[in-house]
Amino acid sequence: MAKHYLSLKPLLSWRGMSHPLNWPALFGRSAALELEIGFGNGERLLRHALAHPEINLIGVELSWPAVRRSLRKIALARPGNVLLVQASAEAAILRLFAPNSLAAVEALFPCPWPAQRQSKRRLFSRRFLTILNNRLAPGASFRMVTDHARFFAWAASQVPGQGFAKETSVRGPGLETKYERKWRQQGQEEFHELRLRKTRHLDLPLGEDIVLQPLRLKSFDKEAVQDRDFGGEEAHISFKELVFDPLKNIGLLHAVVNEDDFMQAFWLEFCLDNGGWLLRPALGCGLVPTRGVRRAVELAAGLAEGRLFDELPQQGRGIGALG
Ligand SMILES: C[S@@+](CC[C@H](N)C(=O)[O-])C[C@H]1O[C@@H](n2cnc3c(N)ncnc32)[C@H](O)[C@@H]1O
Repeated sequence: MAKHYLSLKPLLSWRGMSHPLNWPALFGRSAALELEIGFGNGERLLRHALAHPEINLIGVELSWPAVRRSLRKIALARPGNVLLVQASAEAAILRLFAPNSLAAVEALFPCPWPAQRQSKRRLFSRRFLTILNNRLAPGASFRMVTDHARFFAWAASQVPGQGFAKETSVRGPGLETKYERKWRQQGQEEFHELRLRKTRHLDLPLGEDIVLQPLRLKSFDKEAVQDRDFGGEEAHISFKELVFDPLKNIGLLHAVVNEDDFMQAFWLEFCLDNGGWLLRPALGCGLVPTRGVRRAVELAAGLAEGRLFDELPQQGRGIGALG
């Protein structure tokens, strides 16, 4: 049975907070801000926090089992200078950190996603490095170590033009992480290291804050809103089942929005109001108000009112194009 996480205190409920986060307030002090991406079982994160009590350390990790294990380690060792964010690294760096705010960022043995069909999941694309550059302080550093030669070559090829001085090397073990041990057990003793130092600042606007207004609908076709998919450059939006309570005249539509690397699943609420229907994201879904979510609300409104069929008559069920 999985071991208990013991305390959720170091885990940030960042979705409800205004961005970028006020890190000195969250840590209770100002200190150099460092970040580990994909900390896995958290052993390196914890060691680094304990060895450097002078820094404020943040770990960003996608997987809950990894976060759970790390929370347990943190609760037992009580370092006092580490906070965790469960999110994808690109979305977290973009949303949670101010420009020029990070002193160092590290990623050890990130998933290489070698197949072409998985390539969108790879970290350290040009776009990622632009965001990273913007959020790193002048002269601050980034380090990535990988066991995977092809992923390393791909990541190194993304660097030119991103405002970094680059150093690459082949190195031996010594990082003492779970994945380093794993590759060593399989006979690998040489790993690839990419070190970047910020030499030039790239401008990048802070993400606009989207205001999600409730929409007043002329009609509500319950059948039309369900089981629909919309693909597109900016976001992939799926509407799944609608749960409708005829006594309360409230419908909840299950929506999933995928933008870049950032996935949100939430409910859209249709409720009868003054003889018409009101559409808005249901309260309590921990929603980050992104452009994709705003588009989802607009699409749900269009489907509910039967307008989308006129706009996109070829669409029917299945994948349609986003305007
Ligand atoms: C191969 S493991 C390495 C873990 C640890 N650094 C180590 O060396 O043992 C990669 C980790 O990155 C996490 N990860 C994958 N994609 C991520 C993303 N987009 N953002 C943050 N973490 C991610 C995975 O959940 C996993 O824990």
